Amino acid sequence: MLRSVIKGVGAYLPERVLTNKELAKNVDTSDEWIVARSGIHQRHIAADDQSTSDLAIEAARRALKNAGLDGTEVDLFVVATATPDETFPATAARVQSALGKPGIPAFDLQAVCSGFVYGLAVIDNFIKTGQVKCAMLIGAETFSRILDWDDRTTCVLFGDGAGAVIFNALQGEGSPKDQGILSTHIHSDGRYHDMLYVDGGPASTQTTGYVRMKGKEVFRHAVVNLASTAHEALNANGLTIDDVDWLVPHQANKRILDSTATKLGIDPKKVIVTVDKHANTSAASIPLAFESGIADGRIKTGDLVLMEAMGGGFTWGSALLRI
Ligand code: ACO
Repeated sequence: MLRSVIKGVGAYLPERVLTNKELAKNVDTSDEWIVARSGIHQRHIAADDQSTSDLAIEAARRALKNAGLDGTEVDLFVVATATPDETFPATAARVQSALGKPGIPAFDLQAVCSGFVYGLAVIDNFIKTGQVKCAMLIGAETFSRILDWDDRTTCVLFGDGAGAVIFNALQGEGSPKDQGILSTHIHSDGRYHDMLYVDGGPASTQTTGYVRMKGKEVFRHAVVNLASTAHEALNANGLTIDDVDWLVPHQANKRILDSTATKLGIDPKKVIVTVDKHANTSAASIPLAFESGIADGRIKTGDLVLMEAMGGGFTWGSALLRI
C-alpha cells in the first residue's frame, strides 16, 4: 500500500518575543500566574507587516531546503489555519504562488488547534489514493491578530508561528513497521461551540472578532478527548503506549500536556514540549514542536510518533507516524 512518508520539515517563528513580564505591564496578570496555570514563559508575535502567508512561506522554504526539493516538485499545498490573510482566497494559494507550480491544488483547512491533525488525514488520503505524489502540509497562525489584548483570560495563552512538513508517496507493506503515516482519526462535536470560539466573522458580524473561551470546560474536555483519540490510534495499529517513542501533542497548556500524559501512562521524557517558549500557536503548534524534536536530534528515523490535538468546534484527533 502507498504510505505518506516524511521527506522534510521546516519551522518559522517571528523574531519578536513577548515575555510574560512584558505582557503584565499592559494587562492585569503576572509571570507567576501564567507559568503556574499554563507553563508558558513567552510567545512569538508577528511583525505588523507580517501576515500568516509570510510565516507559512518561510516555514515552507525551510522544509523544502531540508527535503532537498524545489517547490515546483510539490503536487499539493494545504495550509491549516484559523487566521488566514483574507476571508478569501486561501492563504495556501499565496504559498503556491510564491513557491509552487501554477495549476496545482492549494487550499486552506479550518479546524483551529486540530488543523494540523485534520491536515494529516487529508494529505494521507490524497497520497494513499494515488492522487498526488508529493504534498506539503503547513500549520500557520497569527493568533495575535484575533486576541482581545484586554482579556487576561485568553491573551496570555497564544502566540504566532508556522511549521511545514513535506510528504512523499512510498510503497509500504501495510504493517505498523512501515515508514510514514500509519493512521489518522479525526472528530468534531459542534454542540460545544460556545466553549471556544471567535465572536466575529464575515457572515455574522462582518468583523474579524476575538477569541472567547471557557477555560475550565475546555481543559476538562481536552484531557478526555486527547486520551481517547490517542488510544484509538494505538488500537487501530495493534500497538500500545509503550511502543510510542515520542508524543507530539498540540501545545495548548503544560497542565493539559501533563494530565494527558499521565492518563496515557507515557513517560513525560517522551513528550515534546514547546508551549513554554511558543505558547499555543493553534494549527502551527504540532509542526513547530515536531520540527524542534527533529532539529535537536531527539526524534530519529524509525521512531514511532503519536500526534494529537483538540481545539475549537470542538474538534480533536490523532495521527500515528513512523519517521
Ligand atoms: N492572570 C491572572 N489571573 C487570571 C488570569 C490571568 N491571565 N486569567 C484568569 N485569571 C483569574 C480569573 O479571573 C479567576 O479569578 P477569580 O477567582 O477572582 O474569579 C482566577 O484567575 C482563576 O481563574 P480560572 O479560570 O478558574 O483559572 P484556571 O485554573 O481554570 O486556569 C486556564 C485558566 C489557564 C485558562 C485554564 O482553565 C486552562 O488551561 N484551560 C484550557 C484552555 C486552553 O488551554 N485553551 C487553549 C485553546 S484550546 C486548546 O488548544 C485545547
